[in-house]
Amino acid sequence: MSTVLKKDLEVVCNSLEKARSLAPDIGPRFYRLLISESMEMKAVFDSVNMKTQHTRFFSMLNIILIRMRDQRPFISLLQDLGKQHLKYRIRGEDFVIFQAVFLKLLHELFGSEFDESLRNSWVLVFEKINQIMRSGIDYSTAKISRAN
Ligand code: HEM
Repeated sequence: MSTVLKKDLEVVCNSLEKARSLAPDIGPRFYRLLISESMEMKAVFDSVNMKTQHTRFFSMLNIILIRMRDQRPFISLLQDLGKQHLKYRIRGEDFVIFQAVFLKLLHELFGSEFDESLRNSWVLVFEKINQIMRSGIDYSTAKISRAN
């Protein structure tokens, strides 16, 4: 995987801020899209309180991105978050769908402005976040099964 550069983090932080101002409802909108794109995701979030979930997700994403950009510690925060996600029965492949839908939403919001360069910066940063979260999860001892 290529390295996340300071430039990518600047670009991603700025674009998240812009996305939030373009779409103040970005939180609920993201989860609506996620659930509509995948039955699997619908099942995952079925019993979750969606009134608070989008705020928790976006606040955390913002904190992580700013820490990464400002070169402040973020690894153990992400690994702990990963561990929590094991409790929520989140599997490795769920991160892939989650990221793909997030990128889709950005494309919807930015249109042609979401060009290859902006997309690449987002992919690098998101993959880094996913990779560190997953490194906090010990899948070898985990038995993750879902009713559906
Ligand atoms: C960028 C990656 C992610 C971040 C920053 C993130 C952030 C968060 C945060 C902050 C919480 C609330 C934790 C708490 O207060 O206990 C949470 C809960 C949750 N997340 Fe994530 N998450 C990420 C990826 C994912 C993925 C890939 C999935 C699965 C598709 C997922 C599904 C969930 C679920 C099901 C909950 C539990 C909600 C509940 O039961 O109340 N998250 N996430």
